[in-house]
Amino acid sequence: MTNAVIETILSRSAAKYYDPAATLSDDEIRELVRIGTTAPTSFHLQNWRFIAVRTREAKARLRPIAWNQPAITDAAVTFIVCGQLVETSVIPARLAPLVELGVMPPAMVADWEIPARDLYMAFPQRRRDEAVRTATFGAATIVYAARSLGLGSTPMIGFDADAVHREFGLAEDELPVMLLCVGKERAGNWAQKPRRPLAEVLDFV
Ligand SMILES: Cc1cc2nc3c(=O)[nH]c(=O)nc-3n(C[C@H](O)[C@H](O)[C@H](O)COP(=O)(O)O)c2cc1C
Repeated sequence: MTNAVIETILSRSAAKYYDPAATLSDDEIRELVRIGTTAPTSFHLQNWRFIAVRTREAKARLRPIAWNQPAITDAAVTFIVCGQLVETSVIPARLAPLVELGVMPPAMVADWEIPARDLYMAFPQRRRDEAVRTATFGAATIVYAARSLGLGSTPMIGFDADAVHREFGLAEDELPVMLLCVGKERAGNWAQKPRRPLAEVLDFV
């Protein structure tokens, strides 16, 4: 089973070494995020935000609070991928473009908002879990879009979340779920690592 998309998925690895001379334009960064935001989100909440750290000054602020990882300053851009705690009162606004297009009947909006409110709003852990899921789907989609364009990427949990929150002015309802470096790779990166045997991770029922 193979095609260009599967080849892209199979050939990705987490980059360590980036070409520090290679940049991405703001339009190229916008395009990566536009593609990333086609990822699915629960109830179409789109509860994410991406902070593109791409200037020398901004990278210099991020690197010391991200375990001093050289990829932060070498990669063309590092996204602070933020998840927003679920707030279901935004659902009518999120669905409005779909209603305007005539795809969703107006009466259906409440059929999404009410169960979403009941699912999340009295449960802080669920609101937070969904922020993490949303940001992760968005980041993963950018990873593969980048790979398809010949760019490397590195998801990172090696950072001080409180310091990133403070330094980059995240809102109270936002979590810095992960950092994601993207850029042109330089030589020396490992190929994708072997995975656990399928029999250990897949159950048929
Ligand atoms: C959530 C997450 C956090 C990670 N954090 C870091 C990190 O802080 N620094 C780093 O160099 N790699 C980081 N990685 C990359 C992993 O080490 C890498 O994906 C894993 O070893 C498998 O390698 P492969 O993706 O190249 O097959 C992270 C990956 C994920 C998914």
